[in-house]
Amino acid sequence: MSTVGDPATVRPDVSAHELITTTRAVRLRLDLDRPVAPELLEACVADALQAPQGSNLMRTEFVVVRDPERISRLGTIYREEFDGFYRASEVGLFKRVDADDEHAAQSRRTRDSAEHLAAVMDRVPAIVIPCLTPRLADGDLLAAKHRLATVYPTVWNFMLAARLRGLGTCWTGMTLAREADVAEIVGIDPEAVEQVCMIPVAHHTGERFRPAWRPPATDFIHWDTW
Ligand SMILES: Cc1cc2nc3c(=O)[nH]c(=O)nc-3n(C[C@H](O)[C@H](O)[C@H](O)COP(=O)(O)O)c2cc1C
Repeated sequence: MSTVGDPATVRPDVSAHELITTTRAVRLRLDLDRPVAPELLEACVADALQAPQGSNLMRTEFVVVRDPERISRLGTIYREEFDGFYRASEVGLFKRVDADDEHAAQSRRTRDSAEHLAAVMDRVPAIVIPCLTPRLADGDLLAAKHRLATVYPTVWNFMLAARLRGLGTCWTGMTLAREADVAEIVGIDPEAVEQVCMIPVAHHTGERFRPAWRPPATDFIHWDTW
């Protein structure tokens, strides 16, 4: 049995470099009208599991929601958090003022795009909730670092694998403060299972994506010493 997602579903025209430099948070370009086949989602999960795993323990599981009624309820929770907590957040896109002009312009675009996602999250074709078991222990930061470091590459691999199959995704943390409500909707045992994020998934409209603005790499490198 193959342990990678069906290569026949992968776009041949996206190079590895294009993939890692143009896999964006897709919100405005989520096609809400086109269903996402479960086989495609399964292929993305298979590819995701090829990511590095601390101590070779496979601890990331994916709740893949395709039921419109559940998606509608998850989207409502998302929008409540966006309109309440996020609009008021000092570090969020509504209150923060970026010093650099280009960064500020990009943040305005992201804010508009994020508002769109909040408006449509309740009718995306699929929502994926990556989870970690067992839950992180309270107060053990070192263990949390190790355990989350196993989950994050797996989740990012999922998003890259989705992009290769013409699917747009967006990492969202908006609902993490509402884990118990989300758990109730999708049958997660909140005592045992930690939600890591919530990812809308849809075919993307348009053909290609561009690299985003980022500051120069030299601003982020400390050669030999900090
Ligand atoms: C930890 C994390 C949490 C995020 N949470 C949200 C979110 O709740 N809603 C949202 O619209 N985007 C969210 N994003 C997406 C970021 O806004 C996005 O990655 C960033 O603006 C850069 O855009 P780009 O990925 O297209 O370059 C999150 C990203 C990360 C890494």
